[in-house]
Amino acid sequence: MDNIVETRVLTVDSQQPDLAAIQAAAAVLIAGGLVAFPTETVYGLGGSALNTQAINRIYQAKRRPYSDPLIVHIHSADQLDTLAVAIPAAARRLAAAFWPGPLTMVLRRAAHMPANIATGMNTIAVRMPRHPVALALLRAADLPVAAPSANTFTRPSATTAAHVLEDLGGRVELVLDGGAATIGLESTVIDMTQDVPVVLRPGGIVLEELRVLLPDVQISPQYIETHAHERKPLVSPGMLIKHYAPRARLMLFDGPPDVVLVAMVDTAQRFVANAKRVGVLALEEEAELFTDLGVRIISLGSRNDHAQIGRVLFGALRALDAQGVDYILVHGIGREGLGETIWDRLLRAAEGKVIQVG
Ligand code: TXA
Ligand code: MG
Repeated sequence: MDNIVETRVLTVDSQQPDLAAIQAAAAVLIAGGLVAFPTETVYGLGGSALNTQAINRIYQAKRRPYSDPLIVHIHSADQLDTLAVAIPAAARRLAAAFWPGPLTMVLRRAAHMPANIATGMNTIAVRMPRHPVALALLRAADLPVAAPSANTFTRPSATTAAHVLEDLGGRVELVLDGGAATIGLESTVIDMTQDVPVVLRPGGIVLEELRVLLPDVQISPQYIETHAHERKPLVSPGMLIKHYAPRARLMLFDGPPDVVLVAMVDTAQRFVANAKRVGVLALEEEAELFTDLGVRIISLGSRNDHAQIGRVLFGALRALDAQGVDYILVHGIGREGLGETIWDRLLRAAEGKVIQVG
């Protein structure tokens, strides 16, 4: 079923959002409608987490399979106890340290919460975002809000209101435009229902930070899975590699930088000679190498500025998709800090394939 609705857009200040706009958006949520709103990670497609129909509409609007559960957003730690049960002490410590912020915890679901939030599983993923617009909206509605990233299934997450409209225009009642997301990569998802906490998706809170509070934290070895049917129970359904795939084929190169760059230039030249359209996601220091090759270049920022690369990555993938390139070439970056998260998103966009050079 495809509900076609008129999509209103309200522009709000990212730091001090206009109260009337926030109240209008809250009213839509309370009435069971859908609102896309900015968070510090990516835009979310929100609906009341207490309303089974609103939750179903989120899946439909995103064209998301019903097997991929949603994150519930809250504005205060008190709300947590109304959503989840048997909350371990370690989860409280994480909440105290990282909320509001880009951390999502998987906990045991309270029985009264709609099962379709978590595709029937007995768990629930919860996060308290720190973006002022998201927090203002959550407070005004005073509802737990189910919100996946506001992109259609298999598209890169939306980091601006324009991306949201591209994917969800006509399928959401209201978009709050609060400018570009500041992190640009989704939250870290950690499963707190096991004896040992397991990171299901690297994200805005990096492993090094988590290890300070959870020295035994594991990272799900299967968070990269090529085949849905091979999925192990610990793997978040959203860990499917297809999740982030751009339309073009993304080629992720790794190895010693000098040989990698030679291989990338060679590859670009070969494709161009064969009348293929090529895009390069270039590190600032390396962009010059590609300028005379007849390829589209988008600069991601400086090699070691992971925050900048994270902010622009999804938008860059969308921009190259919009230009209709056949191939996107990218040089892998260091895995420390946010680099792990960026690497993960690139790897998924490349459907798990790394071109190892040298
Ligand atoms: O930063 C974010 O997390 C953004 C903003 C809007 O908050 N949201 C987001 O949602 O990225 P989504 O739905 O695109 O990704 C949620 C991830 C998926 O990988 C999903 O499988 C996992 O969280 N997840 C949700 N509920 C889960 C559960 N009960 N158990 C295991 N994984 C779960
Ligand atoms: Mg998503």
